[in-house]
Amino acid sequence: MKNYKKLFPIFKNNPTLHYLDSAATSLKPQVVLDKMMDYYQNYSANIHRGLYPISEKATTEYEQVRNKVAKFIGAKFEGEIIFTGGTTASINMVARSWGENNLVKGDEIVVTVAEHHSNFVPWQQLAKRKSLKLRVTSYELEITKNTKLLAINHVSNVLGTVNNIKEIIKKAREINPNICVVVDGAQAVAHMPVNVTDLDCDFYAFSGHKMYGPTGVGVLYAKANRQLEMKPDNFGGGMIKEVTTETSTWAEGPEKFEAGTPPIGEVIGLGAAVDFINEIGMKNIMAHEKELTDYLIESILKYGRIKILGLGISDNRLGVVSMYSDDKQMGTSHDFSDILGRKFNVAVRAGHHCAMPLHTKFGVETGTTRASIGIYNDKNDIDELIKGLIYAKDIFNCIEEGDKKFYG
Ligand SMILES: Cc1ncc(COP(=O)(O)O)c(C=O)c1O
Repeated sequence: MKNYKKLFPIFKNNPTLHYLDSAATSLKPQVVLDKMMDYYQNYSANIHRGLYPISEKATTEYEQVRNKVAKFIGAKFEGEIIFTGGTTASINMVARSWGENNLVKGDEIVVTVAEHHSNFVPWQQLAKRKSLKLRVTSYELEITKNTKLLAINHVSNVLGTVNNIKEIIKKAREINPNICVVVDGAQAVAHMPVNVTDLDCDFYAFSGHKMYGPTGVGVLYAKANRQLEMKPDNFGGGMIKEVTTETSTWAEGPEKFEAGTPPIGEVIGLGAAVDFINEIGMKNIMAHEKELTDYLIESILKYGRIKILGLGISDNRLGVVSMYSDDKQMGTSHDFSDILGRKFNVAVRAGHHCAMPLHTKFGVETGTTRASIGIYNDKNDIDELIKGLIYAKDIFNCIEEGDKKFYG
């Protein structure tokens, strides 16, 4: 198994770190940091405005990333790529710029119960504002002629399940050819190939920081015809064509939705993250992560006292694994993650992972402990996780017996 840790400087200062929280955010490779530092040190001018060399260089670098991202996700052309602050900002933009202007009282929105709050709450709030019907589905999507919008994740950030988006969209369009489909790709883009044209979705949202890029930047793919149906909701410099004291007109294309100074250094860093993924190759990433995911699931099942929410080993899932225990003597997910972090330097996530309705549906209201995999992980990270789980179980049993000194 190839060792990718050396590409990530964080391990130089923290060599015993076992980072299993890539679903929350990924670590950053040196090449991304170098590219951003180059911008900040050598040409940190504003874009689209200056007629001097470093501003022109910044504009060129920024716009090249639009082209790079378009190719990376198979968009037909770069004008379909809008830079945002992240997945959450992208989905809120669809709700406000498209939903607010194209849905009317009585229209139905369908979301799945497995959505991250970022792909749930914006629809819930839009439905309240506009008196729309919001239907939350568990198994069958049950699209009707009245379903005007479907919001669904490509990969669940709790279960790791990969949804067959192409098939879902095809079936939905047989019922309502004009249905607008919004895909939350936050957990997909760094771990599997994505082609938005092939999926035939209307919108596709993702974050830079979950794909080895910086925080503060994300992408909204908006299919050309849908983009024409959007109205800007964020006003200011850069997004206008002409402004008079009475009225304003808007720029064409994605700039219309990028008011103000965008996160220039972060967009440039995102471009380096795309290069990083392309250089390793999606096939290699998938093979590496599949081997580790299978090993992680096997190790958990061998240990035995802990259950996995959703799918076990399967081709239909990625490396996001949420665990829980029915045993009341075992601690909570927060206890587990606290002990794993402090005693073993294993980083996992505890709680609801911003998906409370899903945890409620599974009857695990207190939350789960989530381990998630990135390209830098190896089998040793997983062995340490299992060691930590066994240690934690011993502690909880001792606490139960009154032997409190064991804790800590
Ligand atoms: C499936 C999914 N959607 C949306 C988000 C929100 O992403 P961000 O916080 O980068 O906006 C996340 C982050 O955890 C996620 O996993």
